[in-house]
Amino acid sequence: MAEQGLTKKPATAKNHIFAIGGGKGGTGKSLIAASIGICLAARGSEVLLIDADLGTANLHTFFGLEPPKIGLSDFVTKKKSTIAGVVVKTGVNNLKLISGAKDMIGIANLSYGQKTKVLNNIKRLKYKYILIDLGPGTTFNILDFFLISHCGILITSPEPTSIENTYRFVKSLLFRYLRKTINQKLVKSLIDRGVRQTSGQKFDSIFDLLEAIEQIEPNLGYTIASYLSTLDIKLVINEVRTDRDRAIGEKMALVARKYFGIQIDFLGSVSHDANIRKGLLQMKPLMAYFPHSKAFKEIDEISQKITPAYQLDLGFSFD
Ligand SMILES: Nc1ncnc2c1ncn2[C@@H]1O[C@H](COP(=O)(O)OP(=O)(O)O)[C@@H](O)[C@H]1O
Ligand SMILES: [Mg+2]
Repeated sequence: MAEQGLTKKPATAKNHIFAIGGGKGGTGKSLIAASIGICLAARGSEVLLIDADLGTANLHTFFGLEPPKIGLSDFVTKKKSTIAGVVVKTGVNNLKLISGAKDMIGIANLSYGQKTKVLNNIKRLKYKYILIDLGPGTTFNILDFFLISHCGILITSPEPTSIENTYRFVKSLLFRYLRKTINQKLVKSLIDRGVRQTSGQKFDSIFDLLEAIEQIEPNLGYTIASYLSTLDIKLVINEVRTDRDRAIGEKMALVARKYFGIQIDFLGSVSHDANIRKGLLQMKPLMAYFPHSKAFKEIDEISQKITPAYQLDLGFSFD
């Protein structure tokens, strides 16, 4: 794998790429990705949704669509020569989809070359907003899709297992980020030991790790800390039912700062809406809930919070 130095690409972002992810399945990642897409498109922007949950792709169902005949794997396997050639309509104005349905290739199984090709081609697509809906888990490819975006949005439900999974996702993300940005061999092995938590090397917080790095390579710990501060990670708590649920987001942001040394912006909570679940079971498109659902009003507010112009291309380059 080609290694990356601690360099950033210049500010050239033509599009804004958001990855929607987080540890666990069933927390509403796809529902929120589709809904944010609808909200941004309704305000007049050209938006593309990418279903990168190749194992259990379901974004099309939120639009009441049958599984599209073409999808991301047709580009990966070269059946279609351009990524634009696998874009399909959603039935919603300004909103297009690259489906993951019927894909034989799981995202975890994409080779390094295939992943690089997909990521670099996504970056060149000419949509104002590109939303990548990720599957569950912390495999390297999922983490890399999250890291290549200008902004990553974590979705968790208020359940303790889901919250715990989200922290695990953030920890894996940070170690992946560090592992890819650092060239020094000794520091790399330190990070690897931290990931595996073997050889008696266990870091309670990222600060302990940075301190250990600082001892090997003076100033590197400080440099890494300043790079970590450039990560743009946001958080949404989905399916909230009580005020206690609504308070979780702020608390999680505090914990992230304390243990991971990173800023996570809490974007807001989305209410549980029994009608959405009922309607989806009947294959009703999400559009049917506008504009009456409280959950959609909350998602629309979240959409507006994430749309200030992103100046910096904070993702990695996979050249
Ligand atoms: N805010 C919500 N209110 C009601 N039901 C929801 C809400 N968010 C998600 N769901 C339900 O949970 C199911 C799983 O959501 P989905 O977006 O597919 O999760 P993920 O992509 O994280 O696996 C949805 O089909 C929907 O029925
Ligand atoms: Mg999903």
